[in-house]
Amino acid sequence: IKMKHLIDKLEREKALTKTEWITLLNGRTPDLAEYLFAKARDIRHQHYGRDIYIRGLIEFTNYCRNNCYYCGIRRGNEGLKRYRLTEEEILSCCEQGYALGFRTFVLQGGEDLYFTQEKMTHIICSMREKYPDCAITLSIGEREREEYEAYFAAGANRFLLRHETANEAHYRTLHPAELDLNHRKACLRNLKKIGYQVGSGIMVGSPGQTAEHLAEDLLFLKELNPHMIGIGPFIPQKDTPFREEKAGTLELTLFLLGLLRLMLPKVLLPSTTALSTIHPDGRKMGILAGANVVMPNLSPQENRKLYSLYDNKRSMGDEAAEGLALLKAEMESIGYRVVSARGDSLVE
Ligand code: 5AD
Repeated sequence: IKMKHLIDKLEREKALTKTEWITLLNGRTPDLAEYLFAKARDIRHQHYGRDIYIRGLIEFTNYCRNNCYYCGIRRGNEGLKRYRLTEEEILSCCEQGYALGFRTFVLQGGEDLYFTQEKMTHIICSMREKYPDCAITLSIGEREREEYEAYFAAGANRFLLRHETANEAHYRTLHPAELDLNHRKACLRNLKKIGYQVGSGIMVGSPGQTAEHLAEDLLFLKELNPHMIGIGPFIPQKDTPFREEKAGTLELTLFLLGLLRLMLPKVLLPSTTALSTIHPDGRKMGILAGANVVMPNLSPQENRKLYSLYDNKRSMGDEAAEGLALLKAEMESIGYRVVSARGDSLVE
């Protein structure tokens, strides 16, 4: 009863206090989750109907200057074969994606300084020229504000940069000292000011994560008010310091998706690849918990295995752009339809 009241309050006021968040997270049950998901679906239907937006994910480089303890493409992973796509290869991914119906292309990569501002600007301009009706999303990590401005001017519209955890001490246990949470938060605020539609988010069940940390994430996200929020379970990767750590759960990830939908009704929420990696029905369950976006892999097939953020990362079948028919059927089986629209965020 008390927990349901908290969910009702969240629905009404779109905010909870830190203590209330912790109570709700710790008090969750399967019944409560169903109560939450029904509301989350209602709210999602009010704003976005039963449409599922798709994004073509182009993983254009697996080089990275960072050494995050959880991530398989960290620079310390010396066994990993590294690759970079050429501009021609990137454009050919877009061409295939466009033919399939994709109107958003996400350029995601490690923080790879080979792609200088000049090279990135060139790529973005070429994409913008060839695909004037498409959204261009960048997911390339922390950069100077001027660089973000240059890419926006070149035609990029959206930027994904997960904050990973809003708690200072927890952030330091996930990253080497050279990375700084405040710098990342500053990047997110700069991106918003420049005019990008901004996505942030976390890994659910990352090592050391507590309910208090999650409460801080929710408070941070409320304040940031991003256009998109990407969350997925942490999954260990065998070549990282966190190889022996436990994976995050489907159950908690779904619960958080529902909470996010109630807190930020118009936010775009992907049902992520990590979610479909830990459970074969994960993606559908994510949609039924309030998510409304999926991001199939549009990278060249020979590179997909090398973008190994975590073990067994799915990139084929319904996770692949070329498998869009499977994804469509899957979404239709639960009463949703994949649409071709750009799917801009309704936030602000
Ligand atoms: N498990 C789950 N997600 C991961 N990411 C990186 N490594 C892992 C992992 N081991 C996520 C991070 C990053 C996004 C691109 O992938 O949250 O922001």
